[in-house]
Amino acid sequence: MKRRDFIKTSALIAAAAGTSGILKASAVPDAWQPEEPTDERLIVSAPMLQNYADTSMGVVFAVSALANGYVLVSENPDLSDARKVLCGGYRVTDIDDRVIRVRLTGLKPATRYYYRIGADRISYEGGYQMKILGNEEDPRVYSFTTAGEGAAAHFCVINDTHARWEPFGRAIEKIAALSPSCVIWNGDASNVEETVEAQMRIFLTPAIDRKDYAACMPYLFCPGNHDNRGMANRHLERVWMFRQAEERLPRDWDLGRNFAVRMGDVALIGLDTAEDKLDTNPKFAGLFTSGPYREAQTEWLREALSREEIRTAPFLVAFCHIPLFDSNPRHNPGDVAPADTDPQYSTDFAYWQRTCARMWTPLLKEAGCQLVITAHQHRYHYDAPTAERPWGQIVGGGPEMGPTGHFPTVIEGLVRNGQLEITVHNLLTDAVQDRFTFSPRP
Ligand SMILES: [Fe+2]
Ligand SMILES: [Fe+2]
Repeated sequence: MKRRDFIKTSALIAAAAGTSGILKASAVPDAWQPEEPTDERLIVSAPMLQNYADTSMGVVFAVSALANGYVLVSENPDLSDARKVLCGGYRVTDIDDRVIRVRLTGLKPATRYYYRIGADRISYEGGYQMKILGNEEDPRVYSFTTAGEGAAAHFCVINDTHARWEPFGRAIEKIAALSPSCVIWNGDASNVEETVEAQMRIFLTPAIDRKDYAACMPYLFCPGNHDNRGMANRHLERVWMFRQAEERLPRDWDLGRNFAVRMGDVALIGLDTAEDKLDTNPKFAGLFTSGPYREAQTEWLREALSREEIRTAPFLVAFCHIPLFDSNPRHNPGDVAPADTDPQYSTDFAYWQRTCARMWTPLLKEAGCQLVITAHQHRYHYDAPTAERPWGQIVGGGPEMGPTGHFPTVIEGLVRNGQLEITVHNLLTDAVQDRFTFSPRP
């Protein structure tokens, strides 16, 4: 008998699998028996919601073999009138043997959607020698709510997770308890990642209890310097997909991660400070182009801040990985040419980003930005606004858990009674570390 690998999932199986069936979705043979029955699942992760936005959402999941993935999406929990959206964009689908990325577009703002993920197992032997070997659907129905002026103004921020599962697991449990509208992952999710499999372990199959941590919780991503490091991270968009093409101008085609999202009374702005060393540093062998990337984002930022839904938001909060301000004269500002070395600074890499600060903070100041939330230094810190620098800056904690005063953080933002309340949660002590309140923009 010719070996065939036929996998079928039915509504009956879905019901039997129940809500815990996500990673147990069983493969069952059809009426005929395959020569070599296999229980290898095709879908091997829960979905991750990427690029929280008002009219679109990215859905990404891992597969174990060549697959043509899709999402069934509907406003009805029973998915009775679900729309099927295939992976990839126009012309051809984006079949892949590791990561399926589906772009849901044309959604309504501040609206709850329900969805299920599925995939056809594909045999491709060249040319027209291709066929469907079977189908698998995750039996669970997930949901998400899009951004927009009508969405609940409530966010959480994590940063510098560095694939350290103990602090990452704590952050995910804290977020689950707080139940925000979205999470901003503020960079250094990676260390140095050379393979797509390593990236998948970070975002799609992390070694934490809550495997489906991002299946109903949308994420935004501001890359950190470590998210550029390693051959695979040069194309991180294979696992952390870019924003939809229609969400940016042709000029901004390559700015796939920057975001300007309205969420209730808050406008969220996402910037990428890029590497913590200069492009001219010999260590980089000419392989990095952070300089022009930052300049391109300046034009993007200028336009984003003028958009109606951003301009009219009572609160403006910006996010980037490397801080835009540092009062410590020993801290390297990241612009020491050509190789980042100077004895007056304590490190030969950027502690903060003066180049980005000079380009971006005048625009943020003019727009009335109240707060910039950053990361990178692995030590929680807050700089209150001053007359000269009217925006506050928070530096989130890193993955280290004591005893030297280091602790990981979840930074929570919530609009209540017309004020933006920021709560800094200490994940080492499981206590509130700090609270700040911001008034609306004039
Ligand atoms: Fe870091
Ligand atoms: Fe960093």
